[in-house]
Amino acid sequence: MFGVTQLAYIVASALFIFALHWMNTPPTARRGVWAGVAATTIAVVFTWAQPGISHHVWIVLAIAAGFLVGVPLSRVPLTAVPQRTALSHAFGGAAAGLVGAAEFYLGRMEGPEHLSTFRMIALLAEVLLGFLTLTGSLMAAGKLQELKWVPQRPVTYPFQNVVNLSLFVVALGLAVALVLHPGATWGPLVFSAIIVLSLMFGVLLIIPIGGADMPTVIAILNAYAGLSAVAMGFVLDNKLLITAGALDGSSGLILAIIMCKAMNRSFANVLFGAFGQVQQVKAGTEEKVYKSETPEGAAQALEQANFVVIIPGYGMAVAQAQHKVRELYDQLIKRGIKVKFAIHPVAGRMPGHMNVLLAEADIPYTDLVEMDEINPDMPQVDVALVVGANDVVNPAARTDKTSPIYGMPIIDADKARSVFAIKRSKNPGFAGIDNALYFADATWMLFGDAKAVIGELVKNLAGGSGMH
Ligand code: TAP
Repeated sequence: MFGVTQLAYIVASALFIFALHWMNTPPTARRGVWAGVAATTIAVVFTWAQPGISHHVWIVLAIAAGFLVGVPLSRVPLTAVPQRTALSHAFGGAAAGLVGAAEFYLGRMEGPEHLSTFRMIALLAEVLLGFLTLTGSLMAAGKLQELKWVPQRPVTYPFQNVVNLSLFVVALGLAVALVLHPGATWGPLVFSAIIVLSLMFGVLLIIPIGGADMPTVIAILNAYAGLSAVAMGFVLDNKLLITAGALDGSSGLILAIIMCKAMNRSFANVLFGAFGQVQQVKAGTEEKVYKSETPEGAAQALEQANFVVIIPGYGMAVAQAQHKVRELYDQLIKRGIKVKFAIHPVAGRMPGHMNVLLAEADIPYTDLVEMDEINPDMPQVDVALVVGANDVVNPAARTDKTSPIYGMPIIDADKARSVFAIKRSKNPGFAGIDNALYFADATWMLFGDAKAVIGELVKNLAGGSGMH
């Protein structure tokens, strides 16, 4: 049986690796999901079938509870995927923490040889990371869901980082004491204190972070959840858990690094920078002038273009305008106009946000062009149509050293021959700053909800002259 289980674990590990690989591109992403499901099923079935496993009724109940929570969670709208992911990490963290706690108390009952130094280190790492991931992820999910009782803006106070660090150091100190004396009479008390401190640390770590930074933080929490699973694998002596946890942890870390790079921010800046605090409006700045255009005028300009680039952003997701965008795309290519979508790596609020929305509207993947690839072509573009994007097309990132987004790579919409920008108001985007693109000579604003404005553009084009 041992040999068969190990073989099954190797197959499951390979499937997990393929799952991640296939999820790299939309055409194979579904296959990736199925590979992940198959790997998890193999892991559960073969672990369950091991001779030492008992309490089958409890296992069935736990699986049923998982389905009961998991199935409705899988039905959330796309815009709620970041908080759904955070909830999954919270469950993962809770599972790791609880298994660690159970192993500690069982180990004490069974005798000191069950709590070797190595096992205690793994067990405490599992508990610390597991419980901090639980509360950290719940806070992150609450912020993203904009729950009333969770503050969206960063909550800061003097010496915050010192307080957080001290708390962590105390928890670490208690953990060291427990590693050295796992059988001491004060063991359970100290162990409970470590759990409470980890739970507190998770909350304190997240409150200084702005709601909109949560997707990056969620990727970091994903890495913590993965690491706690690795530690759990060592505690339970389960190699598949170690492999799966390491894959989970490293993919979370890589994702966080990609997001930080695309925003030109460091990990420290995301975790401790309190980004997204209300910025002081500079007194004395002159009122900037916007030029507005009507959908009729914009439709005429689009009709006369040879090359149109659509730049989607968070506003397209909010308005759920992707299907209208598809209709616009159809109208334009019908006229022989070349249409491409410029995709910024952090447009929207989660990685691949725009790709997923546009794929949902059946826009061919081949017309989605990454930022680095489209930028050299931007000077040849007749019309850049900005659909609810703001920071990712803000030229201040290239020119203004004092700007919070300075250094972030952007899509060079300002280099196009003309720009039409759709947004509802004069409000700034996520970074809370003005965007000079909107005041540029070649830019015209189309104020309104993205779905409604694009609907108007489509109506004008559909009622228009037809061939180019
Ligand atoms: P933002 O800079 O957030 O701008 C979105 C714009 O859409 C806003 O200016 C808003 O203006 C407009 N908008 C909102 N609802 C709309 C609607 N219904 N119809 C039309 N317009 C609407 O978005 P972006 O350019 O996509 O940039 C993303 C930002 O998020 C970046 O700063 C990035 O660093 C950050 N971020 C991204 C990620 C990932 S992984 N994608 C993770 C963390 C942070 P109005 O309110 O005037 O309509």
